Amino acid sequence: MDIVVLEDPVAVGAAGADAIARWVEERTDGALGLATGATPMPVYEALVHRHHDDGLSFAGVRCFLLDEYVGLSTRDPCSYARFIRERFANLVDLPEDHVLGPDGMAEDLDAECRSYEDAIAATGGIALQLLGIGANGHIGFNEPGASFGAATHVEELTARTRGDNARFFPPGTTVPSRVVTQGIGTILRARRILLVATGPAKAEAVVRAVEGPMTTAVPASALQRHARTTVLLDRDAAAMLQRPARPERRP
Ligand code: PGA
Repeated sequence: MDIVVLEDPVAVGAAGADAIARWVEERTDGALGLATGATPMPVYEALVHRHHDDGLSFAGVRCFLLDEYVGLSTRDPCSYARFIRERFANLVDLPEDHVLGPDGMAEDLDAECRSYEDAIAATGGIALQLLGIGANGHIGFNEPGASFGAATHVEELTARTRGDNARFFPPGTTVPSRVVTQGIGTILRARRILLVATGPAKAEAVVRAVEGPMTTAVPASALQRHARTTVLLDRDAAAMLQRPARPERRP
């Protein structure tokens, strides 16, 4: 893993956007994997600026989301499908049918998981995957204990993750307990991975993922076996790292 420590979340966003913009301009095949949640927001904001100011075009890019809540439709304000439309896809020139996420309303969720994997494979696989990390070390919604080889599947969320994500739901609403998520096996098939983490609440998960043993207790530690993962951190998220990070440079 390549660790890059930057000043703050805005700098992390800019560095993440740089790497994605370069891929968009130079890409030859494959799709872009998108993450939702608070941490990637500065990345999307920077990409939207690059679209408007520099003409960065996403017109031919195919995108796949990591995960979706079971029981939320794509119109639901708390769904990740809507999150990515409103915060990114609709703000650039991404055609609506170029952004796909798992269907959390599918009657047959197992069949949906299989067809999601097929859809990813049909575009040539994920060339570049943007990832956040949960305070418990999850990637996508692969909670501690999830198999490193798993494909897209239904996952039961931990109480901690539901609590962490309650901030995205209106007060009084119950956070769904189940999700459809790309598995760690799916994520590891991405040819390049860009993980972003900012803030002190992520420091422990980051050090366990990057410097701890590779263990299913820390799903993000699976990235230690991925050949092309870059971890973009701000100073707070990097605070517990023991190994010196490399000097700041282009990811
Ligand atoms: P967050 O979520 O960026 O909203 O903290 C990250 C994640 O759970 O992957």
